[in-house]
Amino acid sequence: REMIIIDTDPGQDDAVALLLAFASSDQLDLRAITTVAGNVPVGQTTANALRIRELAGARTPVHRGAESPLLFPLETAEFVCGPDGLAGADLPPAQGEPAPGHAVEAIIALCRAAPDDSITLCPLGPLTNLALALRLAPDILPKVKRIVSMGGALGLGNMTPAAEFNIYVDPHAAAIVYASGRPIVMMGLGVTHQAIASHEQVAAIGALGTATGKAIHGMLTRPRPGGLGTTGHPMHDPCVIAFLLWPELFEGRDCFVAVETSDGSQRGRTTIDWNGRLKRPANAHVVAGVQAHELFERMTARLATLP
Ligand code: BDR
Ligand code: CA
Repeated sequence: REMIIIDTDPGQDDAVALLLAFASSDQLDLRAITTVAGNVPVGQTTANALRIRELAGARTPVHRGAESPLLFPLETAEFVCGPDGLAGADLPPAQGEPAPGHAVEAIIALCRAAPDDSITLCPLGPLTNLALALRLAPDILPKVKRIVSMGGALGLGNMTPAAEFNIYVDPHAAAIVYASGRPIVMMGLGVTHQAIASHEQVAAIGALGTATGKAIHGMLTRPRPGGLGTTGHPMHDPCVIAFLLWPELFEGRDCFVAVETSDGSQRGRTTIDWNGRLKRPANAHVVAGVQAHELFERMTARLATLP
């Protein structure tokens, strides 16, 4: 089983990603969930992680993480995910407390305790916690097998024309992670906008009849006033977990990716050297395509195994 840490800012699509990971414990050894400020402030993303854990009947430790990006003030996305981050979903109240220890300390401790090349980091929000961990404890780098990250864009952004939300919110953290030298899989909007849950697909999850299916249905049928004109919900973050489970459904290319940290119209842009024009060594595997229909079939079947 692949040892993973999910760093997240739930967020409806983060919630689905967490549930997919909980449903895949035969393949994924989820060591911890670490939370970060992003879609909503970190107190709320932490409460949401605890609520989703409760829904799945899991006991994975949840560690609360960074309250704000490294340098920029926090910008959140209530205009897409509602004031509570989960579109007012009808979820059980959070049971239990976050685990002791900051998210960054937890990432460092789990990596230090693991064999070389064994931990997969799955950031689903701004990369603040990961950047802090890598700066504070560079000795953990050899422990990291790979970083499979939702963020960035091959083309248009969703937060600004130039930038995808997770990279926009903390571009300095993203720049640190992309310079880490460890294998990175970039799951950007180019692929996640191919994985848009249609009305029928969301209905099929609701029709599972389980508490989880109903909760996902509830989260994904609320209107998204700030959504980018897509008629369904892009399953950005679940693509990260799906890539671990079913890599054969995805295609991409090893490329050099530069992250723009300046505070102007280009803030948070990921410039992807798709055609190798810059002759710089690749620092990421940029995923650009997914067999979306098959992805939804497999994801729905997996989610059906949860309570
Ligand atoms: C990313 O931003 C967040 O709002 C989503 O949860 C996803 O991680 C998409 O740009
Ligand atoms: Ca997210």
